[in-house]
Order: sequence, then structure tokens, then C-alpha cells
Amino acid sequence: MILIDFLLDLVWMILSVLYYVGESLVLFLVPTAFRKKSIEGELVLITGAGSGIGRLQAIKFAAVGCDVVLWDINSTGIEETAKLVRKTGRKAWYYVCDVSKREKVYEVASKVKREAGMVTILVNNAGIIAGQKFINLTDDAIQRTMDVNALAHAWTLKAFLPDMMKKDHGHIVTIASIMGELSAAGMSEYCMSKFAAVGLHESVLRETRAAGKRGIHFTLVNPYMINTGMFAGTKIRYEMIVPTLEPEYVAGKVVEAVQTQTALVRTPVLLHLMVLLKDLLPQKAIFSMEDFFETAKAMDNFVGRRHIKNS
Ligand SMILES: NC(=O)c1ccc[n+]([C@@H]2O[C@H](COP(=O)([O-])OP(=O)(O)OC[C@H]3O[C@@H](n4cnc5c(N)ncnc54)[C@H](O)[C@@H]3O)[C@@H](O)[C@H]2O)c1
Ligand SMILES: *[C@@H]1O[C@H](CO)[C@@H](O)[C@H](O)[C@H]1NC(C)=O
Ligand SMILES: *[C@@H]1O[C@H](CO)[C@@H](O)[C@H](O)[C@H]1NC(C)=O
Repeated sequence: MILIDFLLDLVWMILSVLYYVGESLVLFLVPTAFRKKSIEGELVLITGAGSGIGRLQAIKFAAVGCDVVLWDINSTGIEETAKLVRKTGRKAWYYVCDVSKREKVYEVASKVKREAGMVTILVNNAGIIAGQKFINLTDDAIQRTMDVNALAHAWTLKAFLPDMMKKDHGHIVTIASIMGELSAAGMSEYCMSKFAAVGLHESVLRETRAAGKRGIHFTLVNPYMINTGMFAGTKIRYEMIVPTLEPEYVAGKVVEAVQTQTALVRTPVLLHLMVLLKDLLPQKAIFSMEDFFETAKAMDNFVGRRHIKNS
């Protein structure tokens, strides 16, 4: 009897796996335009919306009919983003909020709920990097990157996920990085924080699924280097093979992933192969590839946003 149950469960599992592999192959062949669902009228909150891909996502979400709530530590940055959003005819609310400060996140979150309403799409986008070799990183720098890139996601999820669970409606977007799946020299605290953000994302989505909430979707975004200024000075050898991404392109990908309820975005697609190879090949073989691109030297001339981070 137990053996029969086991065999039935096993066959069911195998058939399900095959079904979903087939389903995704079919969906892969359907052009994105036909798979997009309307997200008109949703309220999107974006952290780190004062510059870079945060700002561009705000404009692109507004362009497809969403109202937006903008968070950043930089007040000039979000004010400018709000102006750009309002030009599209959609509403924008902006709040100065340091997402590394737990109490501040909860305080501003209740303000948002009173003034703008229920957030239905949460984009955890704010992020920083120290740009130092591990032995030269100060304790404070390690703490700061973990606070902004990883722990902040826990605080914003705590603030907004319960309402989504109650309504069984919502979408959580985690802007991590390919450095949340592969690592590189010269960015140890950043990799640590991005792996943490990926872990939180992947666990929480399983909990909402286990709770039967099929109306809440999750999108993990793991891009390669983007030309926003955050990684100014960073450079690999033979970069024409893996060119730096344009912010407009990445922001567009995020909005499209929400519209198509895509679970994982790796961009460029070559990253899918790299993640696979990292698991398949011996470490020394991987090192040979890294040596080809001279990734160990990539951060040597890093400038990033250091020049403005002293305020
Ligand atoms: N630029 C890249 O190459 C790249 C690659 C992969 C992933 N990412 C990730 O994409 C996200 C956005 O990066 P970007 O390139 O647009 O960077 P960016 O520096 O242009 O924008 C980040 C924004 O976050 C804000 N911010 C920083 N600390 C904050 C805090 N404590 N509270 C609230 N806001 C804060 C900044 O003021 C800034 O406006 C980050 O999470 C980054 O790690 C970037
Ligand atoms: C804040 O944003 C403005 C406008 O985008 C930018 O010029 C300025 O450098 C930013 N300041 C900091 C401290 O990041
Ligand atoms: C650490 O910082 C010192 C002082 O700035 C510098 O001389 C040294 O090269 C740095 N070490 C590494 C590994 O970056």
C-alpha cells in the first residue's frame, strides 16, 4: 500500500515536472506582447527611485497605467522622478526614507497607506556597494551594504506583504544582481548582501505559495552590470562579449516581467549559461574563464558613487 502511494506520487511528480517544462517551452514561443497582462491601476512602490533604474522603472510603470510611490534617501532625486512620472498623467507620491532604518520604513509605510493607498507592487530596488577589497572594508561599510541591500527587503516585506496576503493580490519584485548567484573579487560585501536578498525572496515566495496565495507573484531580477554610474570605473577584459547594459533596457525588462508574471529575469541571457556552467564545471575551469575576462581586476579602477556619498 505504502509502495503504491509512493509510486503514484512519484509518477504524479514526474508528470507535473514534464507538464510545466512543456508549458514554459510553449510560452517561450509566444511573443511577449501576447502574454502581457494589464497592470493598469496598480500602485507600485519603488525604493531607490531617485536615480538609475529605479527612476526609469517609475516612468515605465506609469506609462503602462500604474500610480507610483517613490522612496529614496535623496530628496532631489525623487522630486525629479515624481515630476517625470506626472508628465505621463499618472500620480506620484514621494517620501524620503532610508530603507536601512527599520522604524523609518514602518513609519513611512503607514503614511503611504494613508495617503496613497494599498501598495500592490513592491519593487525593492535601492542598493549600494562599497567597492573595496574585503581586507580593506570597514565594519561599518559591510554593515551598511547588508542593511540597504538585504535587511531592508525584510522590513519592506513586513510592511507591505500582509496586506497583499489579506487581499491575495500583489507582486513582489527583488532587484538583486547576478552577484546574488555568482561572485566576483572586490565586491565581497555586495555579493553577500545580494545572495541574502535572493535567499529571502526565494523563501518568502514559497511561504505565500504554501499559504495558497496564488494571487501574489514574485519576480527576481538578476542583471549584469548596468550603465547607471553605480559601477562607474568597473571594467572586464573583452567586454564586447558581455557589454554593459543600458538602464532603459533593464527597467523595461522589469516592467515586462511583472506584466508577464515572470519568476526570474537574468539579463543578458548569457547569464543563464554562466550559472549553469558554474555548477557543472570544476572550479579551476571556471577560474580559467574568469581569467580570460580578467574579472579579478574588474574592480581595480572602481569609482562608483563614492564622490557623492559623503553627504
Ligand atoms: N548598476 C549596476 O551595474 C547594477 C547591476 C546589477 C544590479 N544592480 C542593482 O540595481 C539596483 C539599482 O541600481 P542603480 O544602478 O540604479 O543604482 P543607483 O545608484 O543609480 O540608484 C540607487 C538609488 O538607491 C538610493 N539609495 C541608496 N541607499 C538608500 C537607502 N538607504 N534608502 C533609500 N534609498 C537609497 C540612492 O540614493 C539611489 O537613488 C541596486 O539594487 C543595484 O544593486 C545594479
Ligand atoms: C541626488 O540626486 C540628484 C539628482 O538626481 C543628484 O544630482 C545628486 O548627485 C544626488 N545626491 C546624492 C548625495 O546622491
Ligand atoms: C588597502 O588599502 C591600502 C591603503 O589605502 C592600500 O595601500 C592597499 O593596496 C589596499 N589593499 C587592497 C588589497 O586593496
